[in-house]
Amino acid sequence: MENKTILELREKHLYPTKVPYYSEPLQLVRAKGSYVWDEQGNRYLDVIGGIVCLSVGHNHPRITAKLKQMVEEDAIQHTTFLYLSEQMPTLAAKLAEEAPGDLDCCYITNSGSEANEMAVMTARADTQEPMVVSLQHGYHGGTSTPLSLCGHSNWKFRSQPQAAVTHARAPYCYRCPFSRERGSCDLECVDDVRMTIQTTTSGTIAAMIVEPVLGVGGFIEPPLDYHKEVYKIVKEHGGLYISDEVQTGAGRTGKHFFAIEESGVVPDIISFAKGIGNGAPVGGVITRKDIAQSLKGKLHFNTFGGDPYQSMQAAEVIDIINQEGLISNADVMGNTLRQGFAELKKDYPIIGDIRGRGLLLGLELVKDPVTKEIAPAETARFMELCKEEGVLIGKGSLFGNVIRIAPSLAITEDECEQLLRSCQRAFAQL
Ligand SMILES: Cc1ncc(COP(=O)(O)O)c(C=O)c1O
Repeated sequence: MENKTILELREKHLYPTKVPYYSEPLQLVRAKGSYVWDEQGNRYLDVIGGIVCLSVGHNHPRITAKLKQMVEEDAIQHTTFLYLSEQMPTLAAKLAEEAPGDLDCCYITNSGSEANEMAVMTARADTQEPMVVSLQHGYHGGTSTPLSLCGHSNWKFRSQPQAAVTHARAPYCYRCPFSRERGSCDLECVDDVRMTIQTTTSGTIAAMIVEPVLGVGGFIEPPLDYHKEVYKIVKEHGGLYISDEVQTGAGRTGKHFFAIEESGVVPDIISFAKGIGNGAPVGGVITRKDIAQSLKGKLHFNTFGGDPYQSMQAAEVIDIINQEGLISNADVMGNTLRQGFAELKKDYPIIGDIRGRGLLLGLELVKDPVTKEIAPAETARFMELCKEEGVLIGKGSLFGNVIRIAPSLAITEDECEQLLRSCQRAFAQL
């Protein structure tokens, strides 16, 4: 189908909230490894993977083979947890092996939003408290509770009620809300969590939900100690610590399967999605059995969560990540890219900040490195220029001025070089 027809159909029959990237939107029809192709056969290096969903590369041969096998065997596509199937519990057992501490009890969903709905519901049931703390600049999904938790006006609707949540200031070091410098501050952002709880709640909370690196917020990377200190405050006020690993999970940050482990915190609940399924619609939460037990006695239904095809793909993704050493590849390639971008920053002062961990890398673009005036128009233009170079990147942040780079964890040295060369040419044109 022609792009023009697709756009007309979208305009006529789809919600106006779905806005495509690019002045001339792209139709992607084929994919393999780190590359995707449009309908005219043009190839692009995909370093955003939908939105941070590509963990093992597009159409990984192991997943493709398993899918084919299931289709050929007429494997049941849909069955709910009301019947037994091997794939969902197999996936849960593999996740329990990857999760830190005693986290070994899962609820499988279709998306990250539902995962966070369940995470919050579980925390509220366990503590019998309603209030949840989240962060300004945080993002946790598009359904009701996650939108309440959201710290971005762009995604919030005036008509959307916001119940029993409160927001603390973000640990956004490049634009520190306390005008301090990373590395020489007193973690005032941690004190702000305590003050937020003490001034806007009854003094006890159900939970605090935090992304190890704030994804939609523009890969805002809190100091590692931030999570540890915040964890203590959450405990002092009776809450559970929820680590939203929808973007950071599945080895993306290059050290552990779940990024929070790097900061030495064992959270009470982890939510995950995106990279776990490598694009298949699967997400969920993992928590301790005693916490999950608080929901016992009620039924909670999710028609598609844990379907055999989705669960198989997520389980296979975990095996591939481990067997192909993709977490350490994310670390090595992430460092290569970081160094490359640091070189580019010397020549192109529009790059105000380079941040992130592993293969979750953000470049904050500014008109002036001293005033840090935001450069959203230049960021949009940079995306177009990269597209002309045959590279698809992402964009984020409240101000729309952060380039997001989150390629397949299996990205190669050559592909990193291609990315850096293309970015250099795009910056030169910009
Ligand atoms: C950190 C985080 N949590 C939750 C979600 C929601 O996931 P989904 O879009 O699968 O509902 C997102 C989506 O971008 C996310 O980035």
